[in-house]
Amino acid sequence: MEGKFIVIEGLDGSGKTTQVRLLAEALRAMGRQVAETAEPTASTTGGLIRDALCGFTPRTGAEIAALFMADRVAHNVNPVWGIGRMLAQGKDVVCDRYYYSSLAYQGSVTDPEWVYELNLHCPEIRRPDLCVFLDMDYAGCCRRMERDRGFREIYENEEALNAVRRKYFDVFRRLEGRDRIRVVDAGRPPEEVARDVLAAVRELLEGPASPVFSPSPGILD
Ligand code: TMP
Repeated sequence: MEGKFIVIEGLDGSGKTTQVRLLAEALRAMGRQVAETAEPTASTTGGLIRDALCGFTPRTGAEIAALFMADRVAHNVNPVWGIGRMLAQGKDVVCDRYYYSSLAYQGSVTDPEWVYELNLHCPEIRRPDLCVFLDMDYAGCCRRMERDRGFREIYENEEALNAVRRKYFDVFRRLEGRDRIRVVDAGRPPEEVARDVLAAVRELLEGPASPVFSPSPGILD
């Protein structure tokens, strides 16, 4: 049976790395096989993206959107490390960022309709089974970024991050009914956040609660 494809999203500094690890550990403890992955990937395209994000190679928003799209296609279809292969092997894939990031970040700096088109209408970019958004405000993200890294990338300033956070919510409203998305308050201790993330995943794995038995009219007469 195919595994489940679960995406963890959030602003820079919202604790995604920790939550990906904790979720993978919890799924393994349930006896499931899990592959952890992230975007941008470690591919050559991923390297071009990182050079642009740290400002080393300046690029336009549209160039960056196109690079992310190419990286995402490879991430789906690569025969060795692709998401498709992992799922087909029965592994759950837990991915740190996916197309929701492009819709929120690149959608804030270039034509958002084109970014939707690139990502949602590409036959080689699969739709996740679940996206969990770790919601945190700018102040919380900053505290964590400064504690963990001491440097910032091009999108990591207050105005940009607030705009991206608003954009994420626009994206989620737009995808309502298309994608399964759950928002978790990430401004709490990691164990509490992890509990809510796991609850969202369990809801996916267990499916909707079974309907209450209600006999047809007249059957108990
Ligand atoms: P991270 O490795 O800390 O998650 O940072 C990756 C950066 O890449 C982050 O600033 C968000 C950005 N990004 C986009 O702008 N668009 C995308 O599609 C993805 C996957 C990431």
